[in-house]
Amino acid sequence: MKRKLIIAGNWKMNKTALEAEGLVKDLVSNIGSVQKTDVVICPPFTALETVGRLIDGTPIALGAQNMHWEEKGAFTGEISADMLKALGCRYVILGHSERRQYFGETDEGVNKKLRAALEAGLQPIVCVGETLKEREARVTEKVLSDQLKGVFRNFAVEELGDVILAYEPVWAIGTGRTASPQQAAQVHRFIRGILGDLFTPHWAQGLRIQYGGSVKPENIRNLLAEVNIDGALVGGASLDNGPFARIVAVAEEMSR
Ligand code: PGA
Repeated sequence: MKRKLIIAGNWKMNKTALEAEGLVKDLVSNIGSVQKTDVVICPPFTALETVGRLIDGTPIALGAQNMHWEEKGAFTGEISADMLKALGCRYVILGHSERRQYFGETDEGVNKKLRAALEAGLQPIVCVGETLKEREARVTEKVLSDQLKGVFRNFAVEELGDVILAYEPVWAIGTGRTASPQQAAQVHRFIRGILGDLFTPHWAQGLRIQYGGSVKPENIRNLLAEVNIDGALVGGASLDNGPFARIVAVAEEMSR
């Protein structure tokens, strides 16, 4: 089954609205005519409006890095799916390992966010991944299968729409240590298998699974050469026009 490649830039807590403006203008002139690849930019909440305005009318889509599961109410500091929609967001990253690690996010919470995002019509990018300790203890598969079962608990396959999954080994995030394409592909196959059992093999075959963790222009080609790797969630290398545009260009060239 052919799956369209999807490259998303996760800016994390970087760039003021003003700084975002410069970067996005450069990106639009470099990759604004991308055709075969889905490209998403996920700036911090405070730059969503600016970035959304600048990419309007281009094929680049807007995404957020997090959201709350409730629709509205007394949840100081939180942002709802509808608020993101109103700013033109099409995607939202859910359950990023930094949210899990520093902000106590659990599979249960991600499960609620997934439901809220889908109900609001956002396309979720659901993140899973094992820590170095877990990999060394050889429990990667158990950890991932628990995360997937927790996050997708009580969903019917019809409800899932075009969910995107991101496999991000925690030990490869921001460390410069990338999983080898073979290592990543093996996990992607495993994830597809688990989700095929949880839902249907047909749905799992169509699911796009991104790899994330120190993706750079230098390693993207070998990652995308793996049939089970359908794109990338890019952190550090998405903060500069040059590297991000090069990553997108490779994806465009290798598009399926
Ligand atoms: P990185 O981050 O590319 O800087 O390793 C990836 C991510 O956390 O999404």
